Amino acid sequence: MLTDTSRWSHARGNGVVPSRWQATSAPIPPFADRHVELMTASRPDRTDSARGRLVVIGQGYVGLPLAARAVEVGWDVVGLEVDARRVQQLSAGHSYIEDITSDQLVATLGTGRYQPTADYREAADFDVAVITVPTPLRDGQPDLSFVENACAALASHLRQGATVVLESTTYPGTTQGLVAPLLEAATGLLAGTDFHLGYSPERIDPGNEWWTLVTTPKVVSGVSQASLTAVDAFFKTVVEHTVPVSSPKEAELSKLLENTFRHVNIALVNELAVFAHALDIDIWEAIDAASTKPFGFMRFTPGPGVGGHCLPIDPSYLSWQVERTLGQAFRFVELANDVNEHMPDYVARRAIALLNDRRMAVNGTRVLILGLAYKRNTGDARESPATRVAELLHAMGADVRAADPHVLGPPPDGVRMVDLDVEEVRKAELVILLTDHDCYDITVVAEAGTPVLDCRRVRALNSLPHVHRL
Ligand SMILES: NC(=O)c1ccc[n+]([C@@H]2O[C@H](COP(=O)([O-])OP(=O)(O)OC[C@H]3O[C@@H](n4cnc5c(N)ncnc54)[C@H](O)[C@@H]3O)[C@@H](O)[C@H]2O)c1
Repeated sequence: MLTDTSRWSHARGNGVVPSRWQATSAPIPPFADRHVELMTASRPDRTDSARGRLVVIGQGYVGLPLAARAVEVGWDVVGLEVDARRVQQLSAGHSYIEDITSDQLVATLGTGRYQPTADYREAADFDVAVITVPTPLRDGQPDLSFVENACAALASHLRQGATVVLESTTYPGTTQGLVAPLLEAATGLLAGTDFHLGYSPERIDPGNEWWTLVTTPKVVSGVSQASLTAVDAFFKTVVEHTVPVSSPKEAELSKLLENTFRHVNIALVNELAVFAHALDIDIWEAIDAASTKPFGFMRFTPGPGVGGHCLPIDPSYLSWQVERTLGQAFRFVELANDVNEHMPDYVARRAIALLNDRRMAVNGTRVLILGLAYKRNTGDARESPATRVAELLHAMGADVRAADPHVLGPPPDGVRMVDLDVEEVRKAELVILLTDHDCYDITVVAEAGTPVLDCRRVRALNSLPHVHRL
């Protein structure tokens, strides 16, 4: 039951959630009993107090928070992870995901109901398995090999009455057209009848303290009504609200729609930002003004490009499928890809122009980049536009340094990691602010007087004569 009404008014005020979305979230109790019957029949040892045995495949940005939450609400959780180093870190209580602190991880381990492992034999006798493995692009095409491998490894432990949920982002049809046949062929069991199968897209927004795994409504689906009920029953134990849809295809498409919507709108403001600058119009002020319209407008802001595991990849899953199945181009996606992919080049061009105004060449010039992560307050540098900006400047001979305390992995080629301090800012000829992490002491940047290209409109830098906005 939702008790925090302010959260909902907040969401509605921003157009994030349709005000009456709950009306579409029809409860589906009749089949829940059947699922419980199936589970009890196949697990006579089940005690009333235990929720059951959950396997979460992949302990990354999506899988680890799910595992921790499931432990919190009483599940026995096996966190299956093929990366042995990650398993070691997890077992030692060291979290590598911002949304789960090491303290939280230690508490999770302390319950005795969380077992990180690379050994699939620990999946034996599972009640529910959730697949949260990567779904990248390879040569511009969906690479579902991680999902296929996970299914192959899981299949030997799949038994009658168990539930399998795919949570990785993918094109519509994957659950029914790929996962079901793989599991059926390996086990001889029938999806939707002998075991439950469904799809439930992940909507986590790393770093967002307001909309969390628990508070964000979860779309759920199943390949049959019984499967929908089982998937819904599982997620009802971990999140506040579920949103059942009629089949996995709708659930799969809903995730791609959400990400494509964001991708396209970001591309729109990015392209507008380029034109507005050339026309000497303040795009940020125009966006502020447009955002005062209480209906029919949703605020998006320009930036150096898109990154992470979602926006640069997911819309291409959809356009690939449209092209493959219908032979048609998904023009919105292609255009958005084109605009967003070129933003790092535009940032580099603006940097060159700013140096040129001071009769300086890029070659040999010291540039300080603030932010390698694609998003504020996270350490996720996957597909980050900052990498491209840094590489472009480095290729032109710049001495590129970067400060990002969140990013723990190796820096882009030729980039030296530094701390943000007065000396670093003063010694740089140009500062490029790509990610507005809260942890930055921005007064250092504001007061040093070094020219800044601010790609995020940081409030503390507004109206300073040495600061130039994207
Ligand atoms: N990160 C996000 O914000 C986000 C949000 C929504 C959806 N998603 C989607 O969720 C899926 C997972 O994304 P992520 O960000 O958690 O990825 P991640 O790379 O952080 O984690 C995936 C983990 O799965 C492990 N893995 C790969 N194959 C495995 C296998 N066969 N068995 C066990 N473990 C295996 C990897 O080693 C890795 O640790 C992707 O499809 C992604 O598009 C991600």
